[in-house]
Amino acid sequence: MTARSTALRLILGSALAAVAAFSAPTFSKDVAPVFNRHCVECHRPGSVAPMSLLDYKSARPWAKAIRDAVISRKMPPWFADPAHGSFSNDPRLSKTELDTVRAWVEAGAKEGDPRDLPPAPKFVEGWQLGKPDIVVDIGVDHNVTLGEDAYEHFTVPTNFTEGRWIRAAEIKPGNRAVVHHVHVLLVHEDPARMQAASTLNAPGLPKFLVSEGKLTRIRADAPVVNDACAVNAPDLPFLRGFQEGGLAAFLPGRPPDVFPDGTAKWIPPGAKLEFVVHYARVAGKPQTDRTSVGFFLAPGPPEVVLGRMDLRNFFMQIPAGAASHEVKRCYTFEKDTFLLSFTPHMHYRGKDITYELIRADGKREVLLSVPRYDFNWQLVYRNRDPVLAEKGSTLIVTAHYDNSPNNRANPDPSAAVRWGDKSEEEMMTSWIEYLDAAKVRQSGRFQTSRASK
Ligand code: HEC
Repeated sequence: MTARSTALRLILGSALAAVAAFSAPTFSKDVAPVFNRHCVECHRPGSVAPMSLLDYKSARPWAKAIRDAVISRKMPPWFADPAHGSFSNDPRLSKTELDTVRAWVEAGAKEGDPRDLPPAPKFVEGWQLGKPDIVVDIGVDHNVTLGEDAYEHFTVPTNFTEGRWIRAAEIKPGNRAVVHHVHVLLVHEDPARMQAASTLNAPGLPKFLVSEGKLTRIRADAPVVNDACAVNAPDLPFLRGFQEGGLAAFLPGRPPDVFPDGTAKWIPPGAKLEFVVHYARVAGKPQTDRTSVGFFLAPGPPEVVLGRMDLRNFFMQIPAGAASHEVKRCYTFEKDTFLLSFTPHMHYRGKDITYELIRADGKREVLLSVPRYDFNWQLVYRNRDPVLAEKGSTLIVTAHYDNSPNNRANPDPSAAVRWGDKSEEEMMTSWIEYLDAAKVRQSGRFQTSRASK
C-alpha cells in the first residue's frame, strides 16, 4: 500500500466519520419526537412506567435497554399479530422511527443541541379527557381491606331526572396505589335487562357460584365445558348468546372509553351505577379510595347506539400442569352487526387468544390474533374499519392457557384452575363493542370498503 493511498484513505475515513457524526441522530432533534409520540404518555414522572423518557438526562442511562425494547417490539406494549386485522390504536413504531432510535443508540446516544428539542408535550393531570360534564363517585371514602385482594361493589344513584346520552366515560381511580381495575355497570330497574347486564345477576348462574369474602368463583363441582362451541355443550347459562357489557372500564394500559363519532350510550332517568372495583393486595398503612366516573354528554341522540357484547366461558377448567389448554366460546350473529373493537381478558395463565369469523358462505377470517397474551397489559384492539359480521356468521374465540411451570407468571402449576375473580384463578372473557348494521346503514356512517362489502 503506498503512502499516498494510505493518506487518501485516512482523509476519506475521517471525512466519513465526520459525515457520520454530523448525521448521527441526536436526542434533541430526532429521538425526542419519537419518544413524545410513542413513549412518554407512560414514561413520565407519576405515570405507570419506571423511568421518564421526557428529557435526555433521564433517558440516556436506558439507551441500550431502549434499543432492545424497541427492536424486540416489547415497547410500546402491543400484542396483536400484524398478520391479521388492522387497528386504529396500534402504537408500534414505524420502520423509520425504529431505525432512528437504533442509530441513535449505536452512535453513542448523543444529546445534540437542546435548541432542537420539540415543544414539551402537555399532559392534563386528573381527567385525561378534560373536565367531564357529570361526575359520579362511589359515595364513600372506602377503607381498603389490608392484606388481601378484594372486589368491592358500590351501587350509587346518578340522580338523573332525565335520561342522558353519553359520548365518553372516563373512570378516575381515587387512589392509584390500590385500585387495580374498575368496571362501571348500569343497574337496570327492569329485572330482565339487569340480569343481562350484570354477571352476578345472570339467571341460572348464581347456583354455580360461591363467594369467599369479597371474591366470587365458580363451584368446584360445576360442570366442565372447555369447548363451548361444541354442538353438544350442555345448556348452561351464558355459553350461548352474550351478556350486554358495562358502561366503562379502567384497566392497566387501557385508554378511557371514548365512543366512536355518531354513537353514544344511554343512561336512563333515575339510573343507578354499579362500580366494581378490584383493590390489589395492600400492605402497610391503611388506605382509602374514592373512585369516580366522569361522563361526557353527547350533543343529542346518536345515529346508532353503541353496544358491548361480553362473551365468557364460565365453565372452563385448566388441568394441573397443562402447557397449552384450549378453551373456546362462540357466538352466531342473529343480525348483521359491525364489530368495532376487541378486549380479551384472561389472568396469569392466559397464553394466547384468537378471534375468527366464519362467514355465512363458509369463509374463515382471523380478525385478531394475540399470540403472546400478557396479563399486565389489558389492551383494547380497535378495528381500523368496523368489521361486518353478517347474520348467520359465527365468531369463534379460542384461548390457550399455560398452567405449566414454564410459565413464569404461573402462581401454582399443581392446581387445576377454574373461573374466579382472583388473579390466581382464571377467566375467559371478551368484550366486543358493536353496532347494529341496519342502523349504521340508515345513518350512512362507516361506508368504508371493508365495512360495506
Ligand atoms: C402504555 C405504557 C407504555 C408505553 C406507551 C411505553 N412503555 Fe416502556 N414500559 C412501560 C412499563 C409499565 C414498563 C415497566 C414494566 C415492563 O417492563 O413491562 C416499561 C418498561 C420499559 C423499559 C424497560 C424494559 C426492560 O427490559 O426492563 C424500556 C427500555 C422501555 N419501557 C422503553 C420504552 C420506549 C422506548 C417506549 C416508546 C417507544 C415505551 N417504552 C413505551 C410502559 C410503557
